[in-house]
Amino acid sequence: QQPDLVSVIFVRANGERIKASGKVGDSLLDVVVNNNVDLDGFGACEGTLTCSTCHLIFKTADYERLPDKPGDEELDMLDLAYDLTDTSRLGCQITLSKDLDGLEVHVPASINDARAA
Ligand code: FES
Repeated sequence: QQPDLVSVIFVRANGERIKASGKVGDSLLDVVVNNNVDLDGFGACEGTLTCSTCHLIFKTADYERLPDKPGDEELDMLDLAYDLTDTSRLGCQITLSKDLDGLEVHVPASINDARAA
């Protein structure tokens, strides 16, 4: 594995695990797009914080070590996501760093494209 590659595992609601990887500085949305991870409707607004389809659920320990806390715009958008949890974030707002290598995130069972409202 190349030194600047960060591996990420997406776990679907049905338990299926999808291995992917990205570079330091990529967002989790970039990882989904660049690895062609097949998540229906994910990232509909292409990271412009207007859709909530990139909702991902983190393990508590991972959630707490994410470098950036969610901003107001992200929190507003998360409010519109289905299956919201205390450790939910929007994937397009999470930037990979080396110490996130091996990150495992859960994909909620359903997504809500807030733009359709
Ligand atoms: Fe739309 Fe993240 S991709 S809010």
